[in-house]
Amino acid sequence: MNSLSWWRDAAIYQIYPRSFRDSNGDGEGDIAGVISGLDYLASLGIDAIWLSPFYTSPNRDGGYDVANPRDVDPRFGTLEDAKDLIAQTHKRGLKIIFDIVPNHFSSDHLWFQAALRSAPGSAERARFHFYDGKGPDGQLPPNNWNSVFGGPAWTRVKEQDGSLGQWYLHLFDTSQPDLNWENPEVASDFEETLRFWFDLGVDGFRIDVAHGLAKDEINVNHRDPEGLTRALRFDAAATDQAERKALLQDIPFFDREGVHQVYRSWRKIFDSYDPPKMGVAEAFINPTSRIARYVRPDELHQAFNFDFMMSNWNSDEMKTSITRTLAELGEVGAAATWVLNNHDSSRVRTKLGDETRAKSAALLIHALPGGIYIYQGEELGLPDGDLPDEARQDPVFFRTAGADKGRDGCRIPLPWEAEKDAYGFSTGKPWLPQPKNWQKFSVDQEENDSESFLNFYRKSLNIRKSNPALGGESPITWVATSPGILYFTRPFGLHVLINVSENSQTLDISEGGSILLASHSNVQLHAGTLELPANSGVWLQY
Ligand code: GLC
Repeated sequence: MNSLSWWRDAAIYQIYPRSFRDSNGDGEGDIAGVISGLDYLASLGIDAIWLSPFYTSPNRDGGYDVANPRDVDPRFGTLEDAKDLIAQTHKRGLKIIFDIVPNHFSSDHLWFQAALRSAPGSAERARFHFYDGKGPDGQLPPNNWNSVFGGPAWTRVKEQDGSLGQWYLHLFDTSQPDLNWENPEVASDFEETLRFWFDLGVDGFRIDVAHGLAKDEINVNHRDPEGLTRALRFDAAATDQAERKALLQDIPFFDREGVHQVYRSWRKIFDSYDPPKMGVAEAFINPTSRIARYVRPDELHQAFNFDFMMSNWNSDEMKTSITRTLAELGEVGAAATWVLNNHDSSRVRTKLGDETRAKSAALLIHALPGGIYIYQGEELGLPDGDLPDEARQDPVFFRTAGADKGRDGCRIPLPWEAEKDAYGFSTGKPWLPQPKNWQKFSVDQEENDSESFLNFYRKSLNIRKSNPALGGESPITWVATSPGILYFTRPFGLHVLINVSENSQTLDISEGGSILLASHSNVQLHAGTLELPANSGVWLQY
């Protein structure tokens, strides 16, 4: 890890604090719980942690509805706990990044409450997108945009005199009013938030909906509202991926030119610290070449690679995505990121449907140049959990009337100890029910099994950290081989082979190598002949 631009090849572990570990028995994870897990995290071989929001919030969208971005919600602890977390993380030689949510505030934020109490046209309303409705009496929304969570993106408010009044824009839940980034007050408030946490020692930010801050002309309808809905659905299976990509190119509130001005000004703040701070964009856009624009030298440092994350288990698709990523980001001098899942997606184990594939996917991305992101529980090989509808909390479920089950299945609290209630996550009732058969995924059981998913991840990450052949940004060289196999080499004699097919394959390769790590015990190497079972992968060291 290069100390000044540490993120370029870092392994960053995403913590969803509500589900990581609960220290006070209220059934929800908290900051003290994260602190108690730091030794475990350090043992994984990661370089940094990223925490999803724990700020003051009515928690309508898992804390991505922020009512005060410069304080900690009591459910998670106190500001003192946050300071302690930063200190404890640094003490273990790890970096720490937080989540910033600039597209919207919670409707509980003082600004929005003031806007509701103020008249149309007031300075209070000008921090958000308040518009008069269309049609007689303004009963129609100002335009036909849909919310990412389903349903219309507009809600009508009652004015102080009780009459139906203006409409406000919310690209997500009704409780998440969008901020008006053309208003300089908004920009300066976020600058204050950045500095607030940076001054407390935070090393960087993950930027939520980084592509959403600037909007096209609001008075114009989108010509294809149904297409808009299909493009925006979280449920990857719900929309054909090729169609989604085409539709994503034409969304009037995503990836507009105005966002870059924001990141250019943020970069100046990042660079005013010594060592400089970093930013990683959550920008769900297409074509991928547009991503590179977020990581130009005077903007952010990284962007999540959703194109790769959404690729199917298909060697051509994966290779195309890898090649394109490295070429497009290389043009602007940015480091790539590789991510298999997060708190908004299906877990990789479930998505790929099989343990060996999930391990092979890790072998693949842990060997690519750039940074990697790991979502809590990924290292345990956790699948998504099935949940009864009554337990669901994601607004996506409610706003689509259950058509989209939402993201709770990947947010179930982690299993720590097989024999304890709530698998040691909490002494209380977990906020989402944990599946009955998760003993085998618990940290303590996996710790004690040398063949476990956890110990596989630990090996992979620790090798990645200590072996110059992995990590770093040296190039990859593709090697021509059988169909269905991804085969590339990296400097220092590392050969990476992943069998992205349902057939076991026998390959002749150069002699002299040895197996550094394999995703399956039946991967065998004898005198230049490699047996690579279906879906397995291997690192060979020459
Ligand atoms: C991002 C977050 C997601 C949240 C949404 C609205 O996509 O990752 O969890 O619901 O933004 O803030």
